[in-house]
Amino acid sequence: MKGGEEVPKCEIIAIANQKGGVGKTTTTFSLGVALAKAGKKVLLIDADPQGDLTTYMGWHNNDEIPVTLATLMERTITDKDINAFESVLHHNEGLDLVPSNLDLSSLEVSLVNAMSREYTMKNAIGSLTNKYDYVLIDCMPSLGMITINALACSDKVIIPVQSQFLATKGMGHLLQTVLKVRKQINPNLKVGGILLTLVDERTNLAKNIRKELSETYGNVFKLFDTQIPRAIKVAESTSQGESIFSYDKNSKVSSAYNNFAMEVLRDGEKELHRSSNIQTR
Ligand SMILES: Nc1ncnc2c1ncn2[C@@H]1O[C@H](COP(=O)(O)OP(=O)(O)OP(=O)(O)O)[C@@H](O)[C@H]1O
Ligand SMILES: [Mg+2]
Repeated sequence: MKGGEEVPKCEIIAIANQKGGVGKTTTTFSLGVALAKAGKKVLLIDADPQGDLTTYMGWHNNDEIPVTLATLMERTITDKDINAFESVLHHNEGLDLVPSNLDLSSLEVSLVNAMSREYTMKNAIGSLTNKYDYVLIDCMPSLGMITINALACSDKVIIPVQSQFLATKGMGHLLQTVLKVRKQINPNLKVGGILLTLVDERTNLAKNIRKELSETYGNVFKLFDTQIPRAIKVAESTSQGESIFSYDKNSKVSSAYNNFAMEVLRDGEKELHRSSNIQTR
């Protein structure tokens, strides 16, 4: 690379919470589309054997997909060659996907005896990441080895939290896992922030949960200004293999995810600026 030329920087973000149904997959897809609409090159990684992201993006028969994340990770464990681009699917809203299916479940079992088992995903997707500006990893609802692998290769983790009673239950455990990964496996890992999802605007619950989150974690972690409202169109859109932007671009959920993407972009730029200041000092 010539002197003065900027090194392309890919930001890898895991979307994680071991609690089920909090909007991780919807957030991964919607954030991905919003970043792609903003001109970024985006790759999504389905790191859940349920394969919901793959299905939400329109690949309904995911058991028939020949090359998935599990294939890439299995080849990495057995030290066999594979071109990781063989796994990449192209979605018509301008972003790419490494899909998953149930094979990822058996792969997780075989990780137990693998060498460098925490780094298998990082090694498996390594050749893909520098072709993109953003890689978003949709984590499964557990803190097992696949999620640890996702955290091991990420620059930051974004935590969607559903606006409901007992929303913060389990958050401590999740944050402890993040800190442990940072200490033992990936010192670069940061908490990008907490995103309040599935907000019912007719009740005061969201306000109370926001207050609770900000009192408990507010001085340690960022709570995104944007919160995602609940709207029936979200489930309708993904059942059609479309994002909310293509299904109903005027919905309040589209505009919320757009605002959220702008916050993520601004944070990314601030960090890039900070690290280039450190390098040039
Ligand atoms: N803003 C929203 N408004 C209405 N429904 C939503 C919204 N976001 C997500 N949903 C619906 O809630 C359900 C759970 O969402 P999603 O699959 O994104 O959660 P998840 O955290 O990925 O779940 P899992 O833990 O099983 O992976 C889905 O049926 C989805 O369509
Ligand atoms: Mg999911």
